[in-house]
Amino acid sequence: MSRVRLLMTLFLLVAVSACADAETGKKPDPTSVAQGKALYQQNCQKCHQKEGEGEKPVPAYIRQLGFVAAMPLDETSHAWHHGDRQMVQTILNGTPSTKRMPAWKGKISEQEAKYIVAYIKSLWPPEILACQGPKHMTCKAGRNQMMRK
Ligand code: HEC
Repeated sequence: MSRVRLLMTLFLLVAVSACADAETGKKPDPTSVAQGKALYQQNCQKCHQKEGEGEKPVPAYIRQLGFVAAMPLDETSHAWHHGDRQMVQTILNGTPSTKRMPAWKGKISEQEAKYIVAYIKSLWPPEILACQGPKHMTCKAGRNQMMRK
């Protein structure tokens, strides 16, 4: 009996942690954030910069025609307009349109991409976190943030 209960508890834990990354507006859990931060520093920081502030100003020697800068991933750009799933997909598939953002599939697992998304979300203030994804269009804090740009 206790074994069954243990299994049930484990199942619940897995189910809960699998849901924790949706656009709930809740702060991402600290363990995922810590894992994501390490992965971010290792793989993403050289372009998106420390704490997701983005590549600015772009050095003249790489600012050629058609050059696309790595935008901020913090609240100052529009990473938060995307849901978690979409961000995970962007990380795994890269951005084929510009080819500058690499596809991380094969180097970063889907679970690791989720950790990185948790870290990115930890960079957003609560009112932006609350407006993540499709609701950014109708959300007051989201609109204010867009007006400020
Ligand atoms: C070689 C530079 C480079 C590296 C390394 C890089 N990126 Fe990017 N990333 C870019 C560029 C450039 C874009 C914009 C591409 C475009 O608009 O087509 C981008 C776009 C993105 C976007 C879409 C943001 C939005 O607002 O739509 C996300 C999310 C993202 N990167 C996350 C990451 C993560 C996470 C990593 C590390 C695993 C990473 N990037 C590593 C250059 C990079």
